[in-house]
Amino acid sequence: MSTVDTIEHQISDSDFDHFTESLEKWSGIVISRSKKYLVAHRLEDLMAENGCQTLRQLVAKAGEIRHALLRKKIVDAMTTNETSWFRDVYPFDTLKRKLFRKYEELNGDAPIRIWSAACSTGQEPYGISISFQQYLSLESKHNSSGIEIIATDISPTALAAARMGVYDNLSMSRGCKASFREMYFTTDKNNVSTVRPEIKSFVNFKPLNLMDSYQSLGIFDVIFLRYVLIYFSDEAKKDIIHRISRRLKPGGALFLGSTESLVRHSDEFEMVKDGAGLYYQRKELLAG
Ligand SMILES: C[S@@+](CC[C@H](N)C(=O)[O-])C[C@H]1O[C@@H](n2cnc3c(N)ncnc32)[C@H](O)[C@@H]1O
Repeated sequence: MSTVDTIEHQISDSDFDHFTESLEKWSGIVISRSKKYLVAHRLEDLMAENGCQTLRQLVAKAGEIRHALLRKKIVDAMTTNETSWFRDVYPFDTLKRKLFRKYEELNGDAPIRIWSAACSTGQEPYGISISFQQYLSLESKHNSSGIEIIATDISPTALAAARMGVYDNLSMSRGCKASFREMYFTTDKNNVSTVRPEIKSFVNFKPLNLMDSYQSLGIFDVIFLRYVLIYFSDEAKKDIIHRISRRLKPGGALFLGSTESLVRHSDEFEMVKDGAGLYYQRKELLAG
């Protein structure tokens, strides 16, 4: 038996429930009992490093005030950072064809503000920045008030990779066309590609737990909140969407993942169908 198998078999249902309740409190992430193996696999190293024989011991240690870093490491280990370039394609098309122009016209001299609210390793915010450059060249625009992209995530490991903006061939092959790779990245002899500084310069990365306040981020024209609500309870989803609606200008656009929906969670948005996809537009007047 491997160590992971041993750990998995030693986790009692009550220890597992205690762990999942703590994880949900720290991060909003909900894990079902069927995921014992995943938890054992992801926490194996942290348990060894911290001299913990059982999951309960690890949770007890992480619960101590002085072990805030351990809590962060546990949450980091339990995040799923799956992403790709131009995921679902249509949000980036909608920005280029319609929304960049709309918000530029509405904003006058102020830049368009976009928040990538669970940015993982950076493909989403860099994809938005690339789409903006594409928009400027398609429209032959020489004067633009520009764009400001705030990209946040709870995972320090994902954020560190995002800030570096360096991607191997496999990551690049997941959604990035050869022509974009040529134009917006530099690629070395090992086929490792680095995002060009002019694309990077529009993106500002920050750590943020979506369970915490986001008031200090300001107000946005567009928010990407994609493939993250799936990890939360219905109650947390509702609360996050409500607070996200307050970070959008009236008429601002919210993009979710193509398999996600606001139905049952909010009446603060109108669904707008656009080409092959859709987005949610914040209503002009909100109750409460
Ligand atoms: C599956 S990835 C999605 C990345 C990207 N939005 C996309 O659509 O490709 C989910 C991301 O949500 C982040 N995440 C999970 N819980 C979070 C929380 N409470 N606050 C902020 N980010 C969170 C994870 O770290 C992970 O990077």
